[in-house]
Amino acid sequence: KKAKVIYDKEFTIGQVDKRIYGSFLEHMGRAIYTGIYEPDHPQADEMGFRKDVLELVRKLNVPIVRYPGGNFVSGYNWEDGVGPKEKRPRRLELAWRAIETNEVGVNEFVEWAKRANTSVMMTVNLGTRGIDAARNLVEYCNFPGGTYYSDLRRQHGYEQPHNIKVWCLGNEMDGDWQIGHKTAYEYGRLAREAAKVMKWVDPTIELVAAGSSGPKMPTFPEWEAIVLDHTYDLVDYVSLHVYFGNQEKDTMNFVAKSLEMEEFIKTVISTIDYVKAKKRSKKVVNISFDEWNVWYHAHLEGKDEKAQPWSFARPIAEEDYVFEDAILVGCMLIALLKHCDRVKIACMAQLVNVIAPITTVKGGIAYRQVIYYPFMHAANYGHGVALLPKVSSPKYGSKEFTDVPYIETVATYNEEKNEITVFAVNRDLEEEMQVEFKLDGFDGFEVVEHIVYESDDIYKGNTQDKPDNVVPHKGGSSKIEGNILTSILPKFSWNVIRLK
Ligand code: AHR
Repeated sequence: KKAKVIYDKEFTIGQVDKRIYGSFLEHMGRAIYTGIYEPDHPQADEMGFRKDVLELVRKLNVPIVRYPGGNFVSGYNWEDGVGPKEKRPRRLELAWRAIETNEVGVNEFVEWAKRANTSVMMTVNLGTRGIDAARNLVEYCNFPGGTYYSDLRRQHGYEQPHNIKVWCLGNEMDGDWQIGHKTAYEYGRLAREAAKVMKWVDPTIELVAAGSSGPKMPTFPEWEAIVLDHTYDLVDYVSLHVYFGNQEKDTMNFVAKSLEMEEFIKTVISTIDYVKAKKRSKKVVNISFDEWNVWYHAHLEGKDEKAQPWSFARPIAEEDYVFEDAILVGCMLIALLKHCDRVKIACMAQLVNVIAPITTVKGGIAYRQVIYYPFMHAANYGHGVALLPKVSSPKYGSKEFTDVPYIETVATYNEEKNEITVFAVNRDLEEEMQVEFKLDGFDGFEVVEHIVYESDDIYKGNTQDKPDNVVPHKGGSSKIEGNILTSILPKFSWNVIRLK
């Protein structure tokens, strides 16, 4: 099969905010305990953080990590996790039916983030708590000193403020699984009042209003409209969450699900802009897609359900990803980049062990799941401006989608480095695709490398015994003549073509 794509230097979507390559770590399962933190591990540093995990996180190049939840945050008392460790309470953790020891809290996480070369995106509890706990936490983290909470931080050994810039106003408050679930009206009012005083404590912070837990929620998108009606002037972003699965073992339908992600983004943009118009506002609220990934394997295998509740750091949602998941993750990354004019923050959920690109063995190795690689490529090379793809590709239909292009692509142009990166997926399970990319306005570029991620078996993954079972390789077929780049995208593959 053959396809054509036109990119033009002048036709940009927008500047890629590096925070689009963010991630998420929740006090859930083994994400924190025996994930990033395992004091008895041979690779633990002096604070108990696993150096092997830090190394893999640094290579991913994640600029921001959301913390501490997720559903967990809606029952969390942040005060439990600060001060001398021996005095921290052991709590019943209701969101994931676990025991929380509070060995890791805000200060430890800030320390970990420094070591991982990343920054913190903090979520406040608007489930069981509210305005008071939220403003106190901002004071504890960001106020220099001379007040109760800022001095408490100093007493705890952190003289300088943490200066956390991005704050989420609760998590998935539209879902009845949430501790302290609210109606849009109740949440909108609370979010407004919390936002107001949090910004009084630190006017430099950015705030994320909790949007819908997914596009299939019955309250979507009315939820966004009502919440923004209350909060528009105070918030900077609305959050979106989505997880996809292939329960039906219908690969062609599964890898088309990035189209649903794009529809979700477009509908939220329309809703934001509707409220903007209604309020006669000049302010633009953007999107924080702060939970996205593939998630279904553990649940399908009944793994979580079989495990004992009320235990400390038991495995939850540990996905053994297979190659087809990496293809959808690649398509989802392209979907985010195609909307980078409005999607300024996005967090792959999550980072370690729980629905994650990195898996640890307690006391043993840390390894990369197959979804690690497309994310790493995008986060390392997808910078500068995103270019609008004009794609002419053969298409197919699937159970839920019509007119799915076999080719999914976006390109970025990094002016500073004078580098173009073309990301492209071939969804076709049977045939390679010859693609002609016309790069208007770009003269004199050469192919630096064409990285290909493919597999002879779409159900293969990386495991503890075979951690490098499916890895990308260089040497893909791409050649450039003038401004025409011709590439062969192998069947069912993720491709990164770098030009300089
Ligand atoms: O990321 C796992 C969970 O998924 C989060 O706790 C919640 O926000 C979402 O439903």
